[in-house]
Amino acid sequence: MKLDVSRPDLVVGVIGTGAMGRGIAQVAAAGGINVLMTDARPGAAAEARDFIGKMLERAAEKGQMTKEDAAASTGRITIVDSHKNMQPCHVVIEAIVENLDAKRALFAELEDIVTPDCIMVSNTSSMSVTTIGAKLKTPQRFAGFHFFNPVPLMKLVEVISGLLTEEWVCDALMALGKRMTREPVRLTDAPGFLVNQVGRGFSLEACHMVQEGVSNFADVDRVMRDVGGFRMGPFELMELTGLDVTQPASVLIYNQFFQEQRYRPSLIMQSRYEAGVLGRKTKKGFYNYDTSGKDLKAIVPPEKPAPAARPESVWVSKAEPEGSNKLVELLGKLGVTVEQGAQPSSKALILVTPIGEDATTAATSQGLDPKRVVAVDTLFPMVKRRTIMTTPLTDPAMRDAAHGLLASDGVPVTVCRDSPGFIAQRIIAMIVNIGCSIAQNRTASPADIDKAVTLGLNYPNGPFKFADVLGVKNIHRILDTMNKTYADPRYRPNIWLTRRAKLGVSVLTEET
Ligand code: NAI
Repeated sequence: MKLDVSRPDLVVGVIGTGAMGRGIAQVAAAGGINVLMTDARPGAAAEARDFIGKMLERAAEKGQMTKEDAAASTGRITIVDSHKNMQPCHVVIEAIVENLDAKRALFAELEDIVTPDCIMVSNTSSMSVTTIGAKLKTPQRFAGFHFFNPVPLMKLVEVISGLLTEEWVCDALMALGKRMTREPVRLTDAPGFLVNQVGRGFSLEACHMVQEGVSNFADVDRVMRDVGGFRMGPFELMELTGLDVTQPASVLIYNQFFQEQRYRPSLIMQSRYEAGVLGRKTKKGFYNYDTSGKDLKAIVPPEKPAPAARPESVWVSKAEPEGSNKLVELLGKLGVTVEQGAQPSSKALILVTPIGEDATTAATSQGLDPKRVVAVDTLFPMVKRRTIMTTPLTDPAMRDAAHGLLASDGVPVTVCRDSPGFIAQRIIAMIVNIGCSIAQNRTASPADIDKAVTLGLNYPNGPFKFADVLGVKNIHRILDTMNKTYADPRYRPNIWLTRRAKLGVSVLTEET
């Protein structure tokens, strides 16, 4: 390695001291590193240092560090007039405006200012690292170093090698990331890098399903929280980030992948983006907001109360033995005796438990009366919430009877319209599919993908863990069936996933 980042006199430069630059400077200084900091706007770097000083003082008050360490960390930050003063730096981190020309102009000047072995990195969140570095005289020492907002709280940093980046540069950045108390993950340049690619699976599939009329924003959020185990539903998350960030990022990733359909943007996002209905920041988004109190409160449409209706009799299809067994067991706990006949009696509510199939296909392929068919999602534990769906012909009385029955122990039930994969099956299958595509493209290793996704997105599991928990064959089946149902390449299973499903092995299995 040409640079020993553990050296006590290490100097890191930070250019651009906005939301990201100040966070990066803070964690570097707290990691015992000397920091030179600059910003094009006069006074901005000084403001940033004051801000960092306060943040570190607060950390000391909370007992996260000693008062002396906090003061010493702030003392390690020196403000300089411009990037022209970055000559002493061993590494320079750029966190200026997200504009290719501005970044290229900065690095073109910088490479003549710093020493030949100084590493130059960009914190870009959306541009190709190879593209930014392409015009440099020394692109081999240029890389991506992608932090997450707010930096002091988000441990993940993506270390991204461009096409021309030399190995030692990323080795040094991995070590530097650790010294800055981060959890670095190594990857090769790709649109959306790693975390932002996976995030498309969550947000875009949710939008596509609402656009299709399967469900609504609030119900999708409820299902993804209670059934999928996510801390926030996709729409809540987009409300927080703002569609001014999410929509352009989605369009960019889609186009950078040459219109790869897996990343196809959504009209639901686009129209809101254009109308300025961006989320919390505009006090109107997928949800309306109550602005009367001190804190902005989302007005969440209440759930329809569970109907009092119960079915006269219940028959459960055995076409999916695992799902059928789980459902019969649950119905037993609810005090229901399930019909034993090979066919349902003439008045029975017919329950099916498809994986990746819609209720219509389950009904027609099994020769069942679609007016009495209700599908139940049994792939997930039916403990906090249950999801059911109907065919276009399902009698509302049958739907209500199924709803009432499955909610009779107080567990809420979400009813959605016909959908291959209900709500959670299809969103999680998309997350897995994108994770597998990242591994197949050798952008990052499966273990690193899971690590990055849990740290950077706070998902309950990374894509690979989700696949192993829910079953690789099940995930493959969901995607394969969706692909056939819609005839839309958006849903085609990635070859990484297909091979491992065929071989009956974990998706974590890597080729030697
Ligand atoms: P910001 O707008 O808060 O800060 C940018 C700062 O750079 C401003 O203080 C501005 O005065 C300064 N600046 C602009 N041009 C400059 C130049 N030529 N030389 C020196 N200073 C200059 O922006 P933010 O959010 O901190 O983003 C910075 C970079 O980090 C962008 O590339 C962005 O894509 C990336 N990023 C942002 C994330 C976020 O959530 N905000 C997350 C990860 C990466």
